[in-house]
Amino acid sequence: MTKKYTLGEDELPREWYNVVPDLPEPLPPLLNPATGEPLPPEAFERLFPRELVRQEFSGERFIPIPEELLEVYRLWRPTPLIRAERLERALRTPARIYYKYEGVSPPGSHKPNTAVAQAYYNVREGVERLTTETGAGQWGSALAFATNLFGLKCTVYMVRASYEQKPYRRVLMHLWGAEVVPSPSPRTESGRKILEQDPNHPGSLGIAISEAIEDAVSHEGTKYGLGSVLNHVLLHQTIIGLEAVRQMEEAGDFPDYVVGCVGGGSNFAGLAYPFYYLKVSGKAPKDTRFIAVEPTACPSMTKGVYTYDFGDTARLTPLLKMYTLGHDYVPPPIHAGGLRYHGAAPTLSLLVKHGLFESVAYNQVEVFEAATLFARTEGFVPAPESAHAIKAVIDLALEAKRRSEEVVILFNLSGHGLLDLRAYQEFFEGVLPPYEYPREKVEESIAKLKALLAERGITV
Ligand SMILES: Cc1ncc(COP(=O)(O)O)c(C=O)c1O
Repeated sequence: MTKKYTLGEDELPREWYNVVPDLPEPLPPLLNPATGEPLPPEAFERLFPRELVRQEFSGERFIPIPEELLEVYRLWRPTPLIRAERLERALRTPARIYYKYEGVSPPGSHKPNTAVAQAYYNVREGVERLTTETGAGQWGSALAFATNLFGLKCTVYMVRASYEQKPYRRVLMHLWGAEVVPSPSPRTESGRKILEQDPNHPGSLGIAISEAIEDAVSHEGTKYGLGSVLNHVLLHQTIIGLEAVRQMEEAGDFPDYVVGCVGGGSNFAGLAYPFYYLKVSGKAPKDTRFIAVEPTACPSMTKGVYTYDFGDTARLTPLLKMYTLGHDYVPPPIHAGGLRYHGAAPTLSLLVKHGLFESVAYNQVEVFEAATLFARTEGFVPAPESAHAIKAVIDLALEAKRRSEEVVILFNLSGHGLLDLRAYQEFFEGVLPPYEYPREKVEESIAKLKALLAERGITV
């Protein structure tokens, strides 16, 4: 039996897929948080280069990938599609399980698919430096890798707690030439304000975002890079699904289920949207179901509310219509650092709202159990984020066994966990709590958000 489906370099997709024209209703616009009015594209040009702004607002279904970028993608793409038959055997399931493995990129996740595109368009428009934030370090190391390739400078604001506790991603960013600043920092007004109140503040993703944005807008030749959520980021990630469509063809199979973990939504959308396109355009041989998996500690789609909210804690971003726990959500210390985002991408949120995509949540203990079974059967050590998808896949495969159904399941193994071994250690020591975020906290946050917007005369 073929284990791995690999494409040749000449088979790299030449266009990304933009889901916007295929959504069930027009995507609600990004709003100015001061007035509640839709923001025009020009409003984003201080933060992003013009081409990325154009992509963000584009209604074109396919957008060409420049030749120079294809050249860079060839460093690690096309990525393999692998049949998880050892896992199937261990589960004694009639289901056929396939995974797209994004851990083969130099930083070890799907994040560089957009990082290299962002670096490329910034360089082309004369930008000299990019700023960004990172929590556990996956996105920061992807942007460090990408800026290094294109000769850009890079400043990464890294949540101080992770900066101190997770040194290896920090070392990786240094290795690729980025400057890594523990956040909150004395570099920015937002950082200084927090440090005045608490010089030992551990930081948060919300604070790091504020620092990165403030740094970008207050320095010439500097712009900001974003790791998930917005349309242009998800667009770049569709290279994953576009490859997977061809690889599934090669395998002679088609998925009944497409599964992925969701932080902001980029790796899941990247795999799922090209299959969604086949479905809505009547080209899919099956009525595929799309399953988004999140932690019970950060259940944006399973317990959150679909409404306009800020993208960051410090309220510097526009208002986005999405599933949210409220922008003042304080993440419990769970190990899937990349899934601790209070919202979810607007396009994905809209699809969930319409019931076209489904969502489930699991706690980190059951997730690490699933990751361990995967590592012991398939060998690869999954990133704790990706392991959420694995847990959902195992449940689907066991359900197929109960019903004696030969379903086909495809999931995204978005990254490897070789720099997350401490989390595995804590799992083996039995010290990871199965945390669940309470619904009352969501209600409290959303009530505060509505009151805040009402004060500004905005009703959403
Ligand atoms: C390996 C991995 N998977 C998934 C995610 C979640 O992000 P997204 O939902 O944008 O794919 C992250 C974020 O850092 C990650 O590092």
